Amino acid sequence: MPVPGRFGARPCARLRAALTKVERPPVSAKPRIFVTRRVPEAVTDRLQRDYDATVNTADSALSADQLVAHADGMDALIVTPPDKMGAELIQRLPDSVRAIACFSVGTNHVDLDAAKQRGIAVTNTPGVLTEATAEIAMLLILGACRRAWEGQKLLRRREWDGWKPTQLIGLELSGRRLAIFGMGRIGQATAARARAFGMEIHYHNRTRLPADQEQGAVYHDTPDQLLEVADVLSLHCPATPETQGFLNAQRIETLPAPSVVINTSRGDVVDDAALIDALKRARVAAAGLDVFAGEPDLHPGYYDLDNAYLLPHLGSATVETRNAMGFKCLDNLDALFTGREAPDRVA
Ligand code: DGY
Repeated sequence: MPVPGRFGARPCARLRAALTKVERPPVSAKPRIFVTRRVPEAVTDRLQRDYDATVNTADSALSADQLVAHADGMDALIVTPPDKMGAELIQRLPDSVRAIACFSVGTNHVDLDAAKQRGIAVTNTPGVLTEATAEIAMLLILGACRRAWEGQKLLRRREWDGWKPTQLIGLELSGRRLAIFGMGRIGQATAARARAFGMEIHYHNRTRLPADQEQGAVYHDTPDQLLEVADVLSLHCPATPETQGFLNAQRIETLPAPSVVINTSRGDVVDDAALIDALKRARVAAAGLDVFAGEPDLHPGYYDLDNAYLLPHLGSATVETRNAMGFKCLDNLDALFTGREAPDRVA
């Protein structure tokens, strides 16, 4: 159990008056944490053992007002990607809040500068989503290339009238060029899996990888050079102002034909109207998407496209990974509340 140290020395609001006369809160006082969504059982057990935790067990989206109200008297928050922690909301958080632990590797939902200005530490969960997300990238590549959604629909609507030589013909992975935009941990893990399917790996990254990590992958100096060889384009970059709307109408036109677009990073990296238009015209043969701008309200144009293979942000949704993400949140909070440096502090 974390014993409140330097970082955790702030008493919660309810006790503040009573504690003003003592130098330190009692060592048995557990830091108070508000968790915006239900978390896996193993994580809940540890949370309850070590913290005075309140969990939004309704598992519903919280408005900014609700979040601020729930934060009252809390020492820290555990937040998830749908919780939009913009500058305005962060400014409204009570002074008691000293840390925000993101239950995610992505931190684009938190205004890190605003948190820094308020002296609120922010942490994330790098390194533990790699395998699960690479698996989902492969599922999307296969699903989009081999027309899995159309096959499912045919069967479940009871419309399949039997095997035909020309039915639902897709694109074979073997021999195709997989272009990876963003060759970090997840990009590399996706490459390793795609190699086993006989794909040729190409990539662009801010920094070229050393040869032992490239594993024969072909490096392209610019994103646009990469797009020219993208039989399958897989997006693995973080959402930043630079990558916002990266795959736009102009870049789509540089893709070979046929090409397939895969996104497991963040929806904001794609210009939805441009991709939908290209899918409708079959300029892009298919897309496999796990993430969307404005989740859960994705662009309505995707719903009726048979060549869009869609998943509801399942990249990290395995028992192993979601437990590991929760434990990382707690490891970071344990460190902060015992006066140590949090291993995954991003602000
Ligand atoms: C993350 O951690 O950023 C993922 O998108 C959640 O699956």
